[in-house]
Amino acid sequence: MHNFVFIGSPGAGKGTHAATLGNQLGLLHISTGDLYRDEMAAGTPLGLAAKRLLDQGLLGTDAMTETLLRRRLARPDTGGGFILDGFPRTLAQTEVLRKILRERGQPLTAAIFLAVPDQSVIKRLSGRLICLQCRQIYHREYNPPRRPGCCDVCGAALRRRADDRPATIKERLRVFHAQTGPILAYYRDRQLLVTVDADAPVATVAQRVEQAARRLIQ
Ligand code: AP5
Repeated sequence: MHNFVFIGSPGAGKGTHAATLGNQLGLLHISTGDLYRDEMAAGTPLGLAAKRLLDQGLLGTDAMTETLLRRRLARPDTGGGFILDGFPRTLAQTEVLRKILRERGQPLTAAIFLAVPDQSVIKRLSGRLICLQCRQIYHREYNPPRRPGCCDVCGAALRRRADDRPATIKERLRVFHAQTGPILAYYRDRQLLVTVDADAPVATVAQRVEQAARRLIQ
């Protein structure tokens, strides 16, 4: 049983590489960003409260995030191990995760940090396209769909993400830099941190991530 967390700035490639590694290792990919987007689309009270924060590039509260994550982890498909993409993002959330894993009697295999400079992620987010139907992630230039505007997997139309506007990207990066240092230190102190240089083409980073993960689970 293996469980990973992916840490990285907005646009570092957490979603892209968590999905790929999940397929390679047979682990469930859980994105807290997707949990928020589903909740906002459903228009629930939590979703509406979250929207007011996320539209400004801010984080959801720790309480909201814990509610969404616990609800997702309570589903029966999570027993075979998972990759958390975008959780934890605050020190309080690292403690929540420790508690959740203890309750489940499962260890954390590693925290994989995708290191990418801000100039690169701004280019990535400015060209990102997503499939709202199946969640597949593309980039106009770096990872284009075979047919422009259409998802390779399910054929649905591709869209920009609502939070990929320049002002929101800037704020998301500011929040990331303010929150992440202590989280990296937390996992480094516990010898759980693996840093991957993710400032390279998608296929190269995918190879680096897979090699790092396979070394850990041998
Ligand atoms: P979330 O959806 O997690 O957003 P994020 O952290 O800002 O990260 P992104 O999804 O934007 O980027 P990514 O790293 O997944 O990159 P991707 O693979 O798409 O969260 C959204 C919001 O929800 C947050 O802002 C926050 O408000 C809230 N939230 C979520 N979790 C929370 C939590 N734990 N606590 C509180 N609030 C929370 O790649 C980006 C682009 O680059 C794509 O176009 C891709 O094709 C391309 N690309 C990927 N890799 C490469 C590469 N190597 N070379 C070139 N292009 C690449």
